[in-house]
Amino acid sequence: MDRLRIIGGQRLQGTVTVSGAKNAALPQIAAALLSPHPLELTNLPVVSDVDNMLGVAQLYGAQVERLAHSTTIDAGEIVPRDVSYDTVRRMRATVLFLGPLLARFGKARVSLPGGCAIGARPVDMHIKALAALGAEVAIENGVIVASTAGGLAGGRVVLGSPSVGATQTAMMAATAAAGECEIVNAAREPEVADLAACLTAMGARIEGAGTHRILIEGRTQWQPARHHGIPDRIEAGTYAVAAAITGGQLELTNARMENLAAVIQVLEAMGASIWPSNRGFVVSREGPLRTADITTEPYPGFPTDLQAQFMALACCADGTSLIRETIFENRFMHVPELMRLGANITLQGTTAVVRGGVPLKGAQVMATDLRASVSLVLAALAAEGETVINRVYHLDRGYEQLDRKLAQCGADIERMRG
Ligand code: EPZ
Repeated sequence: MDRLRIIGGQRLQGTVTVSGAKNAALPQIAAALLSPHPLELTNLPVVSDVDNMLGVAQLYGAQVERLAHSTTIDAGEIVPRDVSYDTVRRMRATVLFLGPLLARFGKARVSLPGGCAIGARPVDMHIKALAALGAEVAIENGVIVASTAGGLAGGRVVLGSPSVGATQTAMMAATAAAGECEIVNAAREPEVADLAACLTAMGARIEGAGTHRILIEGRTQWQPARHHGIPDRIEAGTYAVAAAITGGQLELTNARMENLAAVIQVLEAMGASIWPSNRGFVVSREGPLRTADITTEPYPGFPTDLQAQFMALACCADGTSLIRETIFENRFMHVPELMRLGANITLQGTTAVVRGGVPLKGAQVMATDLRASVSLVLAALAAEGETVINRVYHLDRGYEQLDRKLAQCGADIERMRG
């Protein structure tokens, strides 16, 4: 398994091109199975989660042509097949195929994804959403079995909490329903709005995506489509922290400030300066880092996917920061590894108390999940001496060429194969 070797202390200077959003691409790959016509997706990130999601689409019989940053998916001849637990366990987002397959064939079987490092990750809201649209859904031996004798009817989907995935499942299924669908308490993440834009290009009629109330007309007349996905706001936020934690300056191109308002507010409070450029925006930090109190929330609040990265930053700010995780029940896997680098962090329920300001020192650390892994990279960039990060495959799931992008900005980072 590859490892990353980092010698900390370099101020990062330069430009980083932000890739397309992984969490926009994954549901759009699933959406391709709704239509018998080809869907071309551009601005795709070259990351293993996208490769794996395309692989599952091929398991259903879709023809997939993959270039580096784009793909054309032709689902004209697909058949409903069981996707194994092992596949779904490793690629949770495959549960997003459930809605499109049910909408297309009137039946679908997808293994329950099970939990992952950050939590139990139930899919009860996905199931309730499909039931509200007229589906019969049962769990049989760890498999979600969904069917709808007379086709999906449309209806009102009220989500218990603004789940991103459940909103996307409801939206995709509703495009093929016989009537109108209203989704109440929908997630407002940019990736939800981007999925709606993709579905609209395919022929769907959707209003309100990006707000808590989404209306879908149903009975979509599908058409060949092309969609250019949004930039990855979490990748952009990650590199913004890289600039702040090293006291450097990075221009992030192909990035949008408007999707990161809550994040920029915290970065400025912690001592960074951010300003727009004609290609994206610039993040710079010259003075001392300041502490911050952060609570993760559904969009447009502070994103849970940047919690670990900002904890690494807080470790370098002199004083006490409080970081509260409200979205996932176990998203502090990075804490023991950060402590191996000398961080002083105490967990009190869903809150991490970070007593920063003691210089971090390099060590061997272990990556556990995608965002925890990158927080270790960020801490290593600021630590004194050498850090070796094991199990780098976690990073490759969601960060395109992370080591190369950092090296181009002056980081002393090397990927060790094997
Ligand atoms: C998406 O996951 C993202 N993944 C996650 O990013 C992100 O952290 C999350 O949204 C929140 O923003 C993709 O888009 C592929 P949720 P999702 O449904 O849709 C609970 C990353 O690092 N819940 O909004 O699974 C759930 O357990 C990943 O890129 C239910 O209880 O997130 C969680 O506590 C990690 N029942 C909360 O809701 C359900 O049916 C939010 O989950 C669904 C969710």
